[in-house]
Amino acid sequence: MKIYKEKNYDEASKKAASIIAAQITLKPDSILGLATGSTPIGAYEKLVDSYKKGELDFSGITSINLDEYRGLSPEHDQSYRYFMNLHLFNHVNINKSNTFVPDGLEKDADKACRLYNSIIEKYGGIDLQLLGLGHNGHIGFNEPDTKFTCDTHCVDLTPSTIEANTRFFNSQAEVPKQAYTMGIRTIMQARRVLLMVTGEAKADILKKVLYGPVTPEVPASILQLHKHLYVVADEEAAKYL
Ligand code: F6R
Repeated sequence: MKIYKEKNYDEASKKAASIIAAQITLKPDSILGLATGSTPIGAYEKLVDSYKKGELDFSGITSINLDEYRGLSPEHDQSYRYFMNLHLFNHVNINKSNTFVPDGLEKDADKACRLYNSIIEKYGGIDLQLLGLGHNGHIGFNEPDTKFTCDTHCVDLTPSTIEANTRFFNSQAEVPKQAYTMGIRTIMQARRVLLMVTGEAKADILKKVLYGPVTPEVPASILQLHKHLYVVADEEAAKYL
């Protein structure tokens, strides 16, 4: 494990972007595992800047995102596909047909998950997986549980997640109650993992994740077993490390 402690969010974003950029430069046909949420937005901005300066070429890149809400269309402004287009894909020369997000509109959950697993397998797994960290230690939508779930699966969102998401929708009734997420084994099989964590509110959980017991009750704690884990944190999140 390598931990980079950066001064603030902007510096952490620069560091995370530089690691992703190095991956793209060294292997122009990389398979990138990408995340949504507020944490990686700054890193995506830096990658877009590098692309605009002619420093990066996304034309050979394939991306496979971690998760998607079940029931949301790609055009819905809260879908993760929409997020990825907005923050990255629309601004770089990635071939959109090589960008994958679980199909939120597939009603048959088993089919949606099977299809996603087969895409990951077809591309030979992930070269670099970018992760954010939930306040409860979740990665993707792998929430605290009594066991680790290995492959892509459909999860029921917890009442607190539904509550927290209500602010993005017109009413609580519109908030998706389920999501499709990549499983823990797929994440662990990525050849490199980049965990980006910022803000004081995540300092406690980051310490537990990196130094506490490896347990499905803190899903990200399994990353302690990953051979190539890079943690990028700002000073606030890293204050107990
Ligand atoms: C996003 C994802 C989530 C987030 C996590 C942190 O695709 O899978 O696990 O990474 O909830 O979210 P933020 O960055 O908004 O604090």
